[in-house]
Amino acid sequence: MMQHKKVRAGITALGAYAPKTVLTNADLEKIMDTTDEWIRTRTGIRRRHVAGDDEFTSDLAIRSVEDLLARHGDETLAGVDMVIVATNTPDALFPATAALVQDHFKLRAGAFDLLAACPGWLYALSVAQAYVEAGVCKRVLAVGAEVLTKLIDWQDRSTAVLFGDGAGATIIEAVPEPFGLKSMILGADGSGGHHLHMGCVGKCLPNSTPLSKYVYMNGREVFKFAVRVMNTATIDAVAEAGLESADISLFVPHQANLRIIDAARERLGLAREQVVITVDEYGNNSTASIPLALKHALDKGQIEVGDNLLLVTFGAGLTWGASVLTWGGGA
Ligand code: ACO
Repeated sequence: MMQHKKVRAGITALGAYAPKTVLTNADLEKIMDTTDEWIRTRTGIRRRHVAGDDEFTSDLAIRSVEDLLARHGDETLAGVDMVIVATNTPDALFPATAALVQDHFKLRAGAFDLLAACPGWLYALSVAQAYVEAGVCKRVLAVGAEVLTKLIDWQDRSTAVLFGDGAGATIIEAVPEPFGLKSMILGADGSGGHHLHMGCVGKCLPNSTPLSKYVYMNGREVFKFAVRVMNTATIDAVAEAGLESADISLFVPHQANLRIIDAARERLGLAREQVVITVDEYGNNSTASIPLALKHALDKGQIEVGDNLLLVTFGAGLTWGASVLTWGGGA
């Protein structure tokens, strides 16, 4: 009987974008009852990039794809047959922001948005992986793009200091051995949805929690949840890849809070130099967080072809995900 070799998907191109306008902690001190010291010691954030009044998720997504083209060449979008935009802040409920991206680059591709809170880009990566490995798609453009600062209550210091805007774009396609995605762990616990939410067309969550008009977060509960799932999901992702912590070259966590990242790093027994940190510069830009961190690491020369990267993320839902990826395999 003929043996079919398993197709493995990997990331072969990447770009990212953050808006030019920067809001420092000192800027926030002027508009709310907070201090640079509080923000830095509790979160690790120093600055965040904020979209302009007329800049929306599709604009940031398109800029991140333009960056991808600038890095990898104009041919990089050839053959893309699916566009996925992971976002919590689509330009409109419909049409999908992904369709706006598809149209901008005149791609012959399907297009849809994906909502899974901050882990959205990792969920999009898993969908792209499944499409490619099943032969449904050849090349998928998976973007994480976010303008969460437009949904912040600037009177609420417990959330306003945490978020920033940004976008990251990735191409997912078949890669040769030994490259590509080695594991994918995804999870959700909707019973914790009331800890982090924002309304839209509904009135309440199932447990009668009134939906908030702005981003609402019970920081302490989300903190505990994050530390717990970052630990379990990373252990599971490394094991599913058939590896051990010692085989991980670089840890690329969701950039929400330096203390959460440090707790996960220590549990994994990794050195500080093995962790990508961008939370100081960008704050939490949700679905854009990991692709933006990957770009930062590539630019700093922190990633070599053949490195095993460990990605992990968490967010509203509650949702989470982790994955091990051997970098490289693109043309
Ligand atoms: N400046 C000054 N003081 C503040 C601020 C601020 N910006 N925000 C809160 N405080 C005060 C509080 O009012 C409180 O004062 P009190 O003791 O007098 O009541 C005190 O600081 C401590 O507040 P805590 O909430 O206990 O502070 P904590 O150490 O837990 O830090 C934080 C808060 C940073 C929000 C933390 O809980 C956290 O990072 N949680 C996880 C957040 C996260 O990762 N979210 C991801 C979301 S992903 C997505 O899907 C959108």
